Amino acid sequence: MPITDPKNAAAWNWIQDILPDKRAQHSRRVAELAYELALFHELDHPLDAYLAGLLHDNAKYDTPETLAARGIPPHLCRPSLYDRYPNVWHALVGPRQALSITTNTRVLNAMRWHTTGRARMRPLTQVLFVADFCEPNRDGAWHAVARQSAYENLDKATAIIAQLLVHEHGDQCFWATQACLNDYRKRPNIGL
Ligand SMILES: [Fe+2]
Ligand SMILES: [Fe+2]
Repeated sequence: MPITDPKNAAAWNWIQDILPDKRAQHSRRVAELAYELALFHELDHPLDAYLAGLLHDNAKYDTPETLAARGIPPHLCRPSLYDRYPNVWHALVGPRQALSITTNTRVLNAMRWHTTGRARMRPLTQVLFVADFCEPNRDGAWHAVARQSAYENLDKATAIIAQLLVHEHGDQCFWATQACLNDYRKRPNIGL
């Protein structure tokens, strides 16, 4: 079981300490789906997918002030990003706060782009982006479409999710999500 891996067990303890139970359970479900997708698509480091899933939302309930109070240098707390994109902010600062748990750059990179996606993602980053969107408790029709596509064609699942996000946020969409859609909609066999 990936949760019994020592790094993952330490991460799970930390996440249970700092996040409300509902968010911790979401993190666990994302970890399990990301791990399953990593195995299914034969990624090189499937346990990284599990760890990234556990850690991805660690800063979800933080603010630049709470991060600074924990000793993170103020310029790394990115207050202007928080003001402009409060829902994206936790993804971009979360890796800094998780350095006490892991310095694995593959994991940190995946965490950084889990909310927005981006162009030219590494497979691990893509798996986390997709797993966060379609973990089993997300029960909308599009979540089911993305979940099925996640096994058939990871690029297609990525493009579907990016398109939904661009549609949802319109002119206010974060630049990386638009770049994600522009990239993945052009990949083979996408059909968008
Ligand atoms: Fe998130
Ligand atoms: Fe999440």
